[in-house]
Amino acid sequence: MKHCHIVSAEQFKREHLEEIFGAADAARYAVERNGGTETLARKLVSVIFYQPSTRTAETFKAAALRHGARVSYNPDAKIFSSAAKGESLEHTIRVLGGEYMADLIVLRHPNDDAAERAAGIDMAPIINAGSGTKQHPTQALVDMYTIKNELGRLENLHVVMAGDPMYGRTIRSLACLLALYPGNRITFVSPPDVCIGDDIKLYLRKLGTPFEETDDMDSVLGQADVWYHTRVQEEWYKATGQMELYERIRLRYVMTPEHVAKMKPEARLMHPMPINGEIATALDDHPQVIYFKQATRYAVPIRMGLLTLMLTPGYTPPWGWRKP
Ligand code: CP
Repeated sequence: MKHCHIVSAEQFKREHLEEIFGAADAARYAVERNGGTETLARKLVSVIFYQPSTRTAETFKAAALRHGARVSYNPDAKIFSSAAKGESLEHTIRVLGGEYMADLIVLRHPNDDAAERAAGIDMAPIINAGSGTKQHPTQALVDMYTIKNELGRLENLHVVMAGDPMYGRTIRSLACLLALYPGNRITFVSPPDVCIGDDIKLYLRKLGTPFEETDDMDSVLGQADVWYHTRVQEEWYKATGQMELYERIRLRYVMTPEHVAKMKPEARLMHPMPINGEIATALDDHPQVIYFKQATRYAVPIRMGLLTLMLTPGYTPPWGWRKP
C-alpha cells in the first residue's frame, strides 16, 4: 500500500498503541498549552459519513482543526453525494482522494467491508470511523486511552462488556485491543440471541485472552474493573427485520445508581455513546462514570495523534493496514 490506513483493530500490536498514546499525550499537552498546533496547516481532511454521528465526526473535525488543518465535511453522504445516484464507494473515494483533493479521508459507512474497499483504492489514507456492525477501531483506541488514563493500567483488568455484542462494533474492536495486554479477562453480558461473534472469540483464543459469556448482569457487577455498557442498536434490528427481538432486549440491562453501588469503588463505567435509556441519566455526574471524558477529553487527543502520525511527511506508521 502507498498510504497508511486504519481499517480494523486487528491491525494493531501493543507497541503500535504505545506510539499512538505517545502522540495523543503530545497533542493533549499542545492543546492545554496553546490550544493546539499548526502541524497540519494546509492539509485537507475529508470527513464523509454515510451514517449519523455526534462524537466521531465532531471529534475528528476538532482534532483536524486543532492541528491547523482544513476540513471538508459531508454528514449525510447517503443523500448528499452521488451515492444517491448509484455511484460506487470506490468511485467516490477515488474522487475525494484525487488530485488537489483530500490528504486524508475519515469514512463512516453501514457496510462491513466499506473501509477495506476504500483503503484498497489507496488514493489517500483512510480512517475507518465505523464500518457496519464489525469494526470501529478509533473508538477502541479512544477507549484504551481512557482506561489507561483513568485506571492507570491496561493489563490485569476484568472488563465487562454489556448490551449488544452481536451488533456492537465498539465492543468487537475494544475486545481485540484488550487482548494485546497480559492478564486481561473479558465477560460479555447479553441475551444468548445477541452474543459476540465467533470471529472475535477466535481472535481472543488466538491471543490467549480468557473470556466468558453470561446473561446475568448482577452476577458480575462486583467483579468488573471496567464496565463497558452499550446500546442495543435499533438500526440493525430494523434493517434485518428483527424488531420483535429488539423490543424484547432493548432495555434488558439498564444501569442504575443501585447497580453502580454494587461495583467496586475503583471500577469505572464507560459507554461509547449515544445512550438511549440503557443508563439512567441520574448516573451522568456519578464519580465512577467516565463516558463524557471518554467522548471528548480522550477522543480528541487520540484522533489528533492519529492525524499527526498518518500525515507526517516522510513517515509511514508501522501499523498501517495491509491488503489480505
Ligand atoms: N461512539 C460513537 O461512534 O458515537 P457517534 O455515533 O456519535 O459517532
